Amino acid sequence: MSDRIVTMDKIVNLAKRRGFVFPSSEIYGGLASCWDYGPLGVELKRNVKEAWWRDTVTSRPDVVGLDCAIMMHPRVWEASGHVKNFTDPLVDCKKCKQRFRADQLDMVQCPEKPSKHPGECGGELTGARQFNLMFETHMGPVEDSGATVYLRPETAQGIFVNFVNVVNSARMRPPFGIAQIGKSFRNEITPGNFLFRTREFEQMELEFFVKPGDDDEWFKYWLDRRIAWYREYGIRAERLKLRPHASDELAHYAKGCSDVEYDFPIGWQELEGIANRTDFDLKQHIEYSGKDLSFYDDGTKERFVPYVIEPSAGADRSTLAFLVDAYDEDEAEGEQRAVLRLHPSLAPIKVAVLPLMRKAGLPEKASEIVETLRPHCAVAYDQAGSIGRRYRRQDEAGTPLGITVDYQTLEDETVTLRDRDSMQQERIATAELLDVVRERIAPPTSSRGLLP
Ligand code: GAP
Repeated sequence: MSDRIVTMDKIVNLAKRRGFVFPSSEIYGGLASCWDYGPLGVELKRNVKEAWWRDTVTSRPDVVGLDCAIMMHPRVWEASGHVKNFTDPLVDCKKCKQRFRADQLDMVQCPEKPSKHPGECGGELTGARQFNLMFETHMGPVEDSGATVYLRPETAQGIFVNFVNVVNSARMRPPFGIAQIGKSFRNEITPGNFLFRTREFEQMELEFFVKPGDDDEWFKYWLDRRIAWYREYGIRAERLKLRPHASDELAHYAKGCSDVEYDFPIGWQELEGIANRTDFDLKQHIEYSGKDLSFYDDGTKERFVPYVIEPSAGADRSTLAFLVDAYDEDEAEGEQRAVLRLHPSLAPIKVAVLPLMRKAGLPEKASEIVETLRPHCAVAYDQAGSIGRRYRRQDEAGTPLGITVDYQTLEDETVTLRDRDSMQQERIATAELLDVVRERIAPPTSSRGLLP
């Protein structure tokens, strides 16, 4: 790890400086572990979510989407087991009065002696007690317990309670999936490490419903598919691995689970969980709602409660992993440069158009090119400073292509096209620009392979 160029500090600094991510409510001193996405960050995260949605939903015949309300009937969370089981073990330090997750003490610093972990500083820790992570609020003007609702801690339950609605309206039959991207909330005891663990975050979840007995095969399929997705979007193979859960680690609903882990600057950590949730959730909702959520296969005349394979990824955590993985430093024209080698289809800005000089009609010509490209992709125009500095600025933002308009452009309608990674430049006719740009920023064609 120590020989790695990238550190979390470098990512946090770059994110702030270039407008990827700002501390939330910064002018009031910030709010712990809450972050706002700036102009570049919002594009990057949208592109990550779009890449996931394209791969998981729109490019497949067997998955449809959903967008559920964040607040749901409180019985949902009794049925799902969250009211009873969605807890973390909490300890208090009697000396500094801070609270920590009992099972993650080795991952946090003592607030008073940062070189030590909590409990190693002379402060005595209380025994562990269970703390429910759901945020509670009250619906309507009266704050009585009958009006308690929760901010959802996962998007998955919105999918389960709509299972029959989707089967009936979209005429889907197992094996098929329902996908959702949306905010989830957890009152984490020890959030931190920038976007890695926050109390408000976005999930990208798929619940894939299969016939009992077909679940192992589909579990394997989704493990492969999800790893392939990260790889196709450029995550380095050596920083990605699957870690099967030990049986004592499994969530209360899971028959099997593997985490996709990424080697962050803070070490190997979960990026996504892929679980075989069995028929646990649908059966719980059948019991608690009294509604029939089984599926009747009129071909085979069988009725069954489907099993569920669930790949559940974090949009913010993935965005962080893409940023970390893309970060690099090298030398350009004798100067150090920081560069984000993001997959072009994830990059916030695809093309920067740069007039070589601010005279002789070059800015006007460059603006013309900007207007040609703008309907098709995110374009930046920059005329401030030396051309080298402008390239550096775009490299740091992860912009894969730079177009320079120079005097020759005015003579023969050609421009230079510069590649962010190789820094190679080639001369291209302006008439061909749109096609070339489109080709270079296209998403990867999926190597999905045969369905089981
Ligand atoms: N429905 C299953 C589920 O929610 P999870 O492993 O608790 O499973 C799935 O969460 C993913 O959501 C994680 O792998 C992570 O990427 C993201 N996630 C969970 N808690 C998070 C947090 N506090 N901050 C940021 N992302 C989080």
